[in-house]
Amino acid sequence: MCGIVGTIGKTDTLPFLLEGLGRLEYRGYDSAGVAVLSGNEIQTRKAVGGVAQLVAEVEQNPLRGNPGISHTRWATHGGVTTENAHPHLDASGKLALVHNGVVENHKHLRDELIGRGHVFLSQTDTEVLAHLIGEAFDQNSDRNRSALLHAMQEALRHVRGTYAIAVIHADLGKFLAAARSGSPLVLGIGKEAQFIASDAAALDGWVQDIIYLKDQDIAALDGESFHLATVNGGTATAPKLRKIQVEARATGKGIFPHHMLKEIHEQPDTLREAMKGRLIPEESTARFTGLHRTNEQLRDLKRIILTGCGTTFHAALAGEYMIESLSRIPVECDYASEFRYRNAPLDPETAVFAMSQSGETADTLAALRESKRKGALTLGICNNVFSTISRESDGGIGLRAGVEIGVAATKTFTSELVILAMLGLILGRIRDLSQADAAEIIESLERLPDLVARTLERDALIADIAAKYAKTRNFLFMGRQANFPIALEGALKMKEITYIASSGHPSAELKHGIIALINEETPTIVLAPQDDVFEKNVSNIEEIKARRGPVIAIGTEGDNTLASLCDEAILLPAAPGFLSPFLNSIALQLLAYHTAVALGCNVDKPRNLAKSVTVE
Ligand code: G6P
Repeated sequence: MCGIVGTIGKTDTLPFLLEGLGRLEYRGYDSAGVAVLSGNEIQTRKAVGGVAQLVAEVEQNPLRGNPGISHTRWATHGGVTTENAHPHLDASGKLALVHNGVVENHKHLRDELIGRGHVFLSQTDTEVLAHLIGEAFDQNSDRNRSALLHAMQEALRHVRGTYAIAVIHADLGKFLAAARSGSPLVLGIGKEAQFIASDAAALDGWVQDIIYLKDQDIAALDGESFHLATVNGGTATAPKLRKIQVEARATGKGIFPHHMLKEIHEQPDTLREAMKGRLIPEESTARFTGLHRTNEQLRDLKRIILTGCGTTFHAALAGEYMIESLSRIPVECDYASEFRYRNAPLDPETAVFAMSQSGETADTLAALRESKRKGALTLGICNNVFSTISRESDGGIGLRAGVEIGVAATKTFTSELVILAMLGLILGRIRDLSQADAAEIIESLERLPDLVARTLERDALIADIAAKYAKTRNFLFMGRQANFPIALEGALKMKEITYIASSGHPSAELKHGIIALINEETPTIVLAPQDDVFEKNVSNIEEIKARRGPVIAIGTEGDNTLASLCDEAILLPAAPGFLSPFLNSIALQLLAYHTAVALGCNVDKPRNLAKSVTVE
């Protein structure tokens, strides 16, 4: 969370500081700020809101300077105010700092600093960092660049938590220092200028050569050369210069009013892309070269753990059904935030898949590192294949969904599902899955993009239903088998972008408590495709209707039962059972989207959320 950028070069820094920052808004958009060295003083501008508000502020109160740093915030400590927006200054007002991460012992450090006479202007943990580094710098009689690096080392040794920071100082002229521990940071090395950013996406078009900093690295930039050290004073490992490769960026919304709707409609293509060259019909299997594992090695696996957060965790849950039924390998799913502290027994015969669209989610990264420490095989499933999780895993699978800009994940969810289905296929084929059964699955997967395209044709019908129920205060979502995680995801999408209280449940749990919520004002969305549990879903619908609860059923074309029994029926194309979670999830994405539009919500930037959660 929070995005930081910085630059030092020959020309004015503002164009990059604002444009680069705009590309990081997916990391937070509560407030934004910029600081530059102008003459021999630090000047800052801040605004509550997104980067557009900061741009407006800079237009009203222009500033120029070099070097410069800027920040887009997702509030952790202290409310959304200009005082709490970064950059923060130290006690002297000469040092400016931006921060992504969380200083866990900030209260203790703040109290100590207050005891030494420091006065704080914000409630943030970040201001504590600025004061701590500034104090260490001011205590050194050498007021030079090395003294600032030493001050950072000295201060950061007392810090518990995570950080990516960038620092400039009024007395040091063309000098920008940065450090990371637990939060991502990338350097851009150009001829005319150097850059830092939370994500390489901010640097695209500004620089070719980049370096991903490692945890504990400190970087010193003077616009022409750079130097790396470590927080504990050791020598940094030799940096690896890479060419920037930001995935094709979806710059516009095309014909769509929102990124989210565009991304929902991209799913036939993103699914096709996820499967391209990976399905091998002649051998009735699939292949992921990035796993770097032979069939023999994969056959040795006795257990699979899928871990992730949010939407990605729901994909993992659906994957559990798919992988177990195809491969017969036991699969466990765990929220990464729980798994990292669960002390689960792990061994080399267990593969832990760290799943993350962004590849930067702090809990998922910690789960990956914990699994590695305990000797499990660690594999990443990420959309950003240059992310920290991708880089730190033993092997991995890319989603190939393209950049997802809408904060609510949509296309990356179905890409995760299809990757897990293919994974089940691979693992099944080296065990008991017959060629004939696998061939049928491949044929179905090949039809999936067209079935998704036909599902998207229900857009107008779903928009009408959404408008009708938009004033609802509570939604329930029900599904069975692999459609249970889809119900969870449908409820999450609804919560995220409409703020309507929504919860997902296994349909059979209705009678174990949830039925108490049923009344005329609480619509239930029941996922009831034509499958072997259809009759059981119909019984649940009867139970809800008997208590006068409105039901929106999502079923299969040709169904004659649902339309007469339910208040609304959305009938999707007939598809093999294991594909229904894909189609249902698309219908639920559309339902959440159109409800949010009907309510006038900010669909692409819902309140309080961020696309990538890099704090614990
Ligand atoms: C945040 C986002 C969610 C996302 C989750 C996991 O909570 O708001 O949309 O599902 O993080 O993100 P990841 O990038 O790890 O898949």
